[in-house]
Amino acid sequence: MKYWDFDTIYRQAPTSEPERQYYFIEKIHAILKDKFQDAVASGNAEKRYGKEKLNELLARKQIGTFMVRTFGCQMNARDSEKLSGILQQAGLAVSEDETADFVIYNTCTVRDNANQKVYGHLGYLQTIKKKNPQMTIALCGCMMQEPTAVKRIQKSYRFVDLIFGTYNIFKLAELLFRCQAEKGTVIDVWESTDQVVEDLPAERKYPFKSGVNIMYGCNNFCSYCIVPYVRGRERSRRPEEILSEIRRLANDGVKEVMLLGQNVNSYGKNLAEPMTFSELLRQVNEVEGIERIRFMTSHPKDLSKDLILAMKSLPKICHHLHLPLQSGSSRILKIMNRKYTKEQYLELVMQIRQAVPDISLTTDIIVGFPGETEEDFEETMDVVRKVRYDSAFTFIYSKRTGTPASIMDNQVPEALVKERFERLLREVQQISSQVCGRDVGAVQEVLVECENDHQEGYVSGRLSNNLLVHFPGDASLIGNLVPVELTEAKGFYYIGKMAKRS
Ligand code: 5AD
Ligand code: SF4
Repeated sequence: MKYWDFDTIYRQAPTSEPERQYYFIEKIHAILKDKFQDAVASGNAEKRYGKEKLNELLARKQIGTFMVRTFGCQMNARDSEKLSGILQQAGLAVSEDETADFVIYNTCTVRDNANQKVYGHLGYLQTIKKKNPQMTIALCGCMMQEPTAVKRIQKSYRFVDLIFGTYNIFKLAELLFRCQAEKGTVIDVWESTDQVVEDLPAERKYPFKSGVNIMYGCNNFCSYCIVPYVRGRERSRRPEEILSEIRRLANDGVKEVMLLGQNVNSYGKNLAEPMTFSELLRQVNEVEGIERIRFMTSHPKDLSKDLILAMKSLPKICHHLHLPLQSGSSRILKIMNRKYTKEQYLELVMQIRQAVPDISLTTDIIVGFPGETEEDFEETMDVVRKVRYDSAFTFIYSKRTGTPASIMDNQVPEALVKERFERLLREVQQISSQVCGRDVGAVQEVLVECENDHQEGYVSGRLSNNLLVHFPGDASLIGNLVPVELTEAKGFYYIGKMAKRS
């Protein structure tokens, strides 16, 4: 390998973003290319990748491989696309598994089992790194914003090369450069930021649909939730930036966008020129080429009449609303700091259903919040029976260090929580299998996503309400909106057949 003067390269980097990161992408590419060429010349590359893979890399002028594994929510999934975009721009090829040269885990910490999953995977990574000591292992995302997790990794998982958080994922190229230049684990975790860095590459998982961040962070401080501590205060992106990203995506063949934020209903409040979420939706609805608009997540306390009106009147907005309930007990909701009551929630559902009768409603529910009594739990069951959700994500309360709920002294015994959880799950599943069948016989548009893995000659796609449909068709349909008659309901999905456009 030729001599690289890392200090000088670092000193000469531009100070403004995103120019600085494009500079480091170029540098990391040059360094890795140099290493790769040496490995090809010595025969080590063939040993490492096998002849076939190596020829593929050479043909595509790629200089190594990477994999990004995502834990957690849609926000993390979108962040992972940004990480992948940077790595591809640096000349690396996607790998399906952890045998890659660069492995990044984008972690989640919303519940403790998310953390446990990461530790489990790290054990597995260690065995892989023993076979290939050259590999680089990086951890980022929400769990890395917790000092206790970082300490544990530094102590017990010393083979990790790079740790960064949620605020500086745009800096990946610079951090990888530092991994080349420095010995030991590189750690760069920020406590907060007001910076939103735009215009770095992103690699989409699907060519025809994409997540688009409209805001970052959360100001709500629900008493059980760690998100405001690891993702910081609410920061809205400027509408011009969002719209120009969506126009770019549309030009690139994207038909469906999912507008992402922890609490999209409070979008725009902190902008220099404030703007509401429904106003943003109206502007996104105008973008030519975009045919479907989704958004996630809505907080019931901020869901305005104007938004309901927008959902009713804007043709591109999907008839699906994810409206986290968390608990049906007004008493518990108060302690959760949710700022709405059971009655207000039910009233909201009624208004939405009046305006958009075929809306599909989904929710999140936590069982076993501290102090939850049988009566509180029955209130939750009551809301579930009244609303009849299309589907509900149910979670067992998980104690998160640093949140107010974690030090409440009336934690519910585990066995009791499990028993309630099972009851809730049964109710939710029974209702959703009934609700899912309601559109049998109807013709609806399906955005085709892929060929069906299980049945040859079938493709799979999603309805406006997000339910899956499988129907006979071939790969040429992927990425298209096609009319499909829903012939059979199967609990959580439909079987259908292509219909004529009406
Ligand atoms: N325990 C269990 N579930 C939680 N959620 C957030 N924090 C916790 C916690 N400490 C759930 C909420 C939220 C979803 C993303 O995760 O239901 O809406
Ligand atoms: Fe967590 Fe509440 Fe913010 Fe959602 S709204 S991310 S549950 S604090």
